[in-house]
Amino acid sequence: MDDYPIDKVYRLLEPGPVILLTTKEKDGTNNVMTIGFHMVVQHEQPPLLAAIIGPWDHTFKTLRTTKECVIAIPTVEMAKTVVDIGNCSGADEDKFEKFSLSTASGSEVGAPLIEQCKANIECRVADTKMVSKYNMFILEPVKAWVTPHLKDHKTIHHRGDGTFTVDGKVINLQDRMTKWKEYQE
Ligand SMILES: Cc1cc2nc3c(=O)[nH]c(=O)nc-3n(C[C@H](O)[C@H](O)[C@H](O)COP(=O)(O)O)c2cc1C
Repeated sequence: MDDYPIDKVYRLLEPGPVILLTTKEKDGTNNVMTIGFHMVVQHEQPPLLAAIIGPWDHTFKTLRTTKECVIAIPTVEMAKTVVDIGNCSGADEDKFEKFSLSTASGSEVGAPLIEQCKANIECRVADTKMVSKYNMFILEPVKAWVTPHLKDHKTIHHRGDGTFTVDGKVINLQDRMTKWKEYQE
């Protein structure tokens, strides 16, 4: 994987792909869940993301304790696995083994990167103020990675009902983004 600038990770997320979120428990056990509800909050100083994680998820307890996770962005080739990961719990089984997910170590957090994913973003929990009201964790990306050979693979986007759209044609309107110089880089 190549280094990817953390102040640009919003570009990996802004179109709203379904993501996988990994955690490592205090005893070293890895877990992964599927998330459709996430958003970018700010792109710099510091960059912040948000993820909605229900208290019924095993991940919720782990994240509250360890305050570290990895957001992994899967490709369309993983679509069925992504749904299956979101239909079982790490409280009952080892999802990395069950779904043959290959892990790699990050450099900043203990949670594992997923090698089959096109991007991996190491995050620390930056704010839990909205957890009790909205199950919303504010996450600060501290390191990001992209997998060069998966760069052009498509992502999946949940339509909220078990159906998904797959990325389509890219249209480039950067020359019209005159107010936002950073979009022209
Ligand atoms: C497409 C899809 C999107 C999902 N989005 C969310 C979400 O945004 N937030 C959430 O808490 N659970 C979401 N889930 C459900 C969790 O992935 C599921 O409860 C998972 O089994 C939790 O795993 P865990 O108990 O190992 O943490 C989604 C599941 C699917 C299939």
